[in-house]
Amino acid sequence: MTLIHAYAPASIGNISCGFDTLGLCLKVPGDIVSLSPNTDSCLNITSIEGGSPDLPYDPDKNCATVAIKSALVAMGKKDEGFDIAIKKGIPGGSGMGSSAASAVAGVVALNAYFENPLSPKELLSHALQGELIASKSVHFDNIAPSLLGGITLIHDDHGERIYNLPIPEDLHLTVISPAVTIHTADARALIPKSITLGDTKQQMRDIATFVHALHSGDLDALAASLNDRIAEPVRMELIPHFLEIKEAALEAGALGFGIAGAGPALFAFASSEKTAKDIEEAMREACGQKDLSCKTQSGTICPQGARIITEDEIL
Ligand code: HSE
Repeated sequence: MTLIHAYAPASIGNISCGFDTLGLCLKVPGDIVSLSPNTDSCLNITSIEGGSPDLPYDPDKNCATVAIKSALVAMGKKDEGFDIAIKKGIPGGSGMGSSAASAVAGVVALNAYFENPLSPKELLSHALQGELIASKSVHFDNIAPSLLGGITLIHDDHGERIYNLPIPEDLHLTVISPAVTIHTADARALIPKSITLGDTKQQMRDIATFVHALHSGDLDALAASLNDRIAEPVRMELIPHFLEIKEAALEAGALGFGIAGAGPALFAFASSEKTAKDIEEAMREACGQKDLSCKTQSGTICPQGARIITEDEIL
């Protein structure tokens, strides 16, 4: 019998000015991991619904089970066995934290099963083991917002200091997912190993201004801060018609526009629900003119991260 289901939402890493440092949580889509104990003393993936047909059933290769295994070892319960069903709502290679969500949902379900012995910080370190399988690099900017919700600021690569930042009341966002796939590991290989002093200086100003903007609710300052001098210049080539979509979003009133994590999903911030809808429409039109199919959504940043859900909540 299935006992526990956990839902972990999609997320957007970097938020333009904070490469590997900022992330935000979306309400949907999300991944669901369901656990039920078995008597085999091993992890057994019974089903993977949705997502790419290549997703591995081998528990040593799947993000969810790698994270669960790491948590079981830490709890001193490595001989406990579970049947695991995974429902993928977030397409892999979309830039919306698909591997992170599976890893987070896995550890949240496991922790709930054992009545929450692990702290959020510990959950993040085990989820990171799952994330590493897919992206081959340490970055918390998807797993942190997926677990904690809201907007997260990541201070270091050890998960030592992760902070939730305030979400301005009027802040809306639109996300567009062009129908192409980018693997995070490939997109990370493009990132330059060093940047100039001029770019470093301005990027520091941008991220500081972004944090100030969230604390003060100053959307004008927010708009000024949304610049990416590290990833966007090298990754935009991977996203068809990036510049046309960006121009459409800015013309429709976006406060800022950027690549969601490694892409290809793109996001734009807006100061009202109406502007977010206008941006959505403008970006769809820009894609339509180039015959690029895409999915879009508008909404707000979700303050709530991963959670246990009931059987009835599984769509
Ligand atoms: N910070 C990561 C990157 C996020 O840009 O590679 C990946 O979703």
